[in-house]
Amino acid sequence: MPVAMLMLALLAYLSGVLGLPSLPPVPSRIRDEIAGYKSVADDIINLSVHGKAQNQSYNRLAEFVDTFGSRIAGSQNLENAIDYMLKAMEADGLENVHGEEVMVPHWVRGRENCTMLEPRLYKVSIMGLGSSVGTPFGGIKAEALVVHSFDELHSRASEAKGKIIIYDQGYVNYGVSVAYRDYGADEAAKVGGVASLIRSVASFSIHSPHTGWQDYKGNTTKVPTACIAVEDAEMFSRMAARGTKIVLHLNMEARNLPDAKSRNTVAEIKGREHPEQVVLVSGHLDSWDVGQGAMDDGGGAFISWQALSLIRQLGLRPRRTLRAVLWTAEEEGLVGSYQYYQKHKSNISNYDLVMESDIGTFTPTGIMFTGSSNAKSIMSEVLSLLKPINASQLLDHAEGGDVSFWISDGVPGGSLANQNERYFWFHHSDGDTMSVQDPRAMDLCSAVWAVTAYVVADMEDMLPRH
Ligand SMILES: *[C@@H]1O[C@H](CO)[C@@H](O)[C@H](O)[C@H]1NC(C)=O
Ligand SMILES: *[C@@H]1O[C@H](CO)[C@@H](O)[C@H](O)[C@H]1NC(C)=O
Ligand SMILES: *[C@@H]1O[C@H](CO)[C@@H](O)[C@H](O)[C@H]1NC(C)=O
Ligand SMILES: *[C@@H]1O[C@H](CO)[C@@H](O)[C@H](O)[C@H]1NC(C)=O
Ligand SMILES: *[C@@H]1O[C@H](CO)[C@@H](O)[C@H](O)[C@H]1NC(C)=O
Ligand SMILES: *[C@@H]1O[C@H](CO)[C@@H](O)[C@H](O)[C@H]1NC(C)=O
Ligand SMILES: [Zn+2]
Repeated sequence: MPVAMLMLALLAYLSGVLGLPSLPPVPSRIRDEIAGYKSVADDIINLSVHGKAQNQSYNRLAEFVDTFGSRIAGSQNLENAIDYMLKAMEADGLENVHGEEVMVPHWVRGRENCTMLEPRLYKVSIMGLGSSVGTPFGGIKAEALVVHSFDELHSRASEAKGKIIIYDQGYVNYGVSVAYRDYGADEAAKVGGVASLIRSVASFSIHSPHTGWQDYKGNTTKVPTACIAVEDAEMFSRMAARGTKIVLHLNMEARNLPDAKSRNTVAEIKGREHPEQVVLVSGHLDSWDVGQGAMDDGGGAFISWQALSLIRQLGLRPRRTLRAVLWTAEEEGLVGSYQYYQKHKSNISNYDLVMESDIGTFTPTGIMFTGSSNAKSIMSEVLSLLKPINASQLLDHAEGGDVSFWISDGVPGGSLANQNERYFWFHHSDGDTMSVQDPRAMDLCSAVWAVTAYVVADMEDMLPRH
């Protein structure tokens, strides 16, 4: 190979291995402009990590989740939590603090239980899945059919009639395995199943069911559906493989009530020069009705508040408006954020950058970003300001369902990259409590969020679109 080709191959290899994007150079004017933010970035970092705001976002979140606990859409408790946030952000000196009304699904779990009657008496831990119907009065008593995939279910369709279908689908990753939670009930109903129990979509388990939304899509009977712990799914698999007959008694009082009023929670620091132009940071305030919703997504919501709070505490006012939006009813399928998009999309040309943190607020490593290669170059330069806290990585592809509508329409989008390997240990389970959160990690995340949002909001030009 000629040397030049060798160099190219080496570069391609390195960018693959190290995640180095090969980006167009940033014009020196912009590079200098961004370098000029070094001291303000240091001030933000210092305030959040070492100064007066140390532990602040953690302490605020702890008080919030200890006061309200979990916050499911449709509940009075979520509305009380939103009222509290409006007061707290107002008292913190933020501007234009208000709720924006949206209609949200109102699913209520009710009492639920599952008893294994054969081969021995055993209490199975279950959690109904969001939007599931309940069981008829007296519950459902039926034999179980254990399968490991939809393919296996289809090939054994003749055995499924009248049975409770148990899926022990294993864990590939969340994106892949969640299909069983989403569509397990419909697929079970299509082959005559009377209910479905899904192995929790979790990367680790200490006998914890992990709930989540499910979708009745087809023109099929709506059958009750719940998740079970990984350990129980594996036990059922072993029993079935030995040919043991499994009989279950499932009781669920779950109900779907009429849609209810809720609110997206909005707060701002008005831009000094282009108040109509917006850099948006966000997380969702609602949670499942289990645990405390501290990780999913109390952390993301509170670092978004904290980003504005740090800027306000430093007495800074960027050129453009910084807006924090704490979405409602994310868990029921991005319900609040979609209605926000519908209401505000006529102003899309004024949206500079949209960010969401909803995959953990563990130790941050940088930003995951979707945008044109020119926008990436600029963001990569902005992130170099976060080198003092080792969070300057620019990764591809923002992970933010709630801001995805804007990103699809060409607005640059970011999400918080963090060391979230343990995220799905706790996700949607009783284990999602304040004990998962760490004050120093939240200070670092808040600094990443604040520096990125502030600098982009204050630069002379908006980021280029894709
Ligand atoms: C960082 O914050 C600490 C504590 O508030 C302060 O003593 C120190 O002077 C600050 N350092 C810089 C470089 O601003
Ligand atoms: C923040 O919390 C740590 C313990 O996690 C503690 O050592 C430190 O003193 C706290 N800082 C402030 C300003 O309260
Ligand atoms: C839905 O099911 C009903 C009765 O089971 C049938 O009459 C109808 O054609 C189906 N609709 C569709 C869209 O499949
Ligand atoms: C299970 O729940 C039903 C209500 O859905 C209740 O009537 C029944 O007593 C419960 N059974 C057990 C064993 O807890
Ligand atoms: C669109 O932006 C204009 C100018 O800032 C503002 O007056 C208007 O309320 C915005 N509309 C929506 C739907 O947000
Ligand atoms: C900096 O972060 C990277 C991950 O982004 C990590 O691999 C490395 O160990 C960190 N370095 C320090 C000094 O913490
Ligand atoms: Zn979430």
